[in-house]
Parts: sequence; C-alpha cells; structure tokens
Amino acid sequence: MPAAPVASITRLFVTPRRRGRGQAAQLLEAACEEVANRGMSLMLDVSDDGYAAIALYESLGWRRVVTIRADWLNAAGERALVHYYVSPETARKTGCAAGLYE
Ligand SMILES: CC(C)(COP(=O)(O)OP(=O)(O)OC[C@H]1O[C@@H](n2cnc3c(N)ncnc32)[C@H](O)[C@@H]1OP(=O)(O)O)[C@@H](O)C(=O)NCCC(=O)NCCS
Repeated sequence: MPAAPVASITRLFVTPRRRGRGQAAQLLEAACEEVANRGMSLMLDVSDDGYAAIALYESLGWRRVVTIRADWLNAAGERALVHYYVSPETARKTGCAAGLYE
C-alpha cells in the first residue's frame, strides 16, 4: 500500500435516476485532483459484489492492490471479500503490487 499520507474515499453514491451520465466519474476525478493538490495518495475499498462500482473504478484506471476477507458478513451471510484500489496517479507513483489476504 502507498506510504502515508493517504486519503480514502469511504462512500460514493449517485442517485439511481442520475446514473449512467458520468457523474460518478466526475466526482472521482474531482477527488483525485483535490488529493493530488494536497500531495497525498488516494485509495478506496469496495465489496466484491459492487459490480457497477468495480467496473467504474477499473474503467477509470484505478488499480486493485489488495483483497481482504472482512470480519463482517455480506447479504449471503458470508465474510465479505473487499477489494482495495488506489487511484491511477497513486498507482503510477508507488508502483503498487496486488495481493490476496484471507
Ligand atoms: C457505482 C455508481 C456510483 C456509478 O455511478 P454513475 O454515475 O452511474 O457512473 P458513471 O456514469 O460515471 O459511469 C462511468 C463508467 O463506469 C462504468 N459503469 C458505471 N456503472 C456501470 C454499470 N452498472 N455496469 C457496468 N459499468 C458501469 C462504465 O465504464 C461507465 O462508463 P460508460 O457509461 O462510458 O460505459 C452508482 O451505480 C451507485 O451509486 N451505485 C450504488 C452505490 C455504490 O455501489 N457505490 C460504490 C460503493 S464503493
């Protein structure tokens, strides 16, 4: 994972009727710009059932760096699998490698 200081996006939502219009992509771009201006790295996490979000992050060049089995249960009653991503700029700067931790 990148060295500190690291900023993290903890919630990203677009209201259903506004989806598919590039708003989430714009929000992520704004966050990337703000964090870069502060000289920080940027990361986020997403549960493995967040298909739309995962497609979004990967389409924008976010890099998955680690996957962790969480200690909370998903809707299926199983320990959730959570992917951690770093922003394209953070990935470029740190050359993060991917891994899986159970
Ligand atoms: C994930 C979410 C934020 C995407 O918001 P959005 O404004 O619709 O996304 P955008 O329009 O900016 O999408 C940009 C790109 O992401 C990808 N993408 C977004 N939604 C997608 C979907 N449902 N399926 C496949 N790809 C998707 C596409 O590559 C898309 O580019 P394209 O439209 O040119 O194909 C929205 O679906 C949401 O709020 N979901 C519920 C909450 C959530 O899961 N948040 C993330 C938790 S970490």
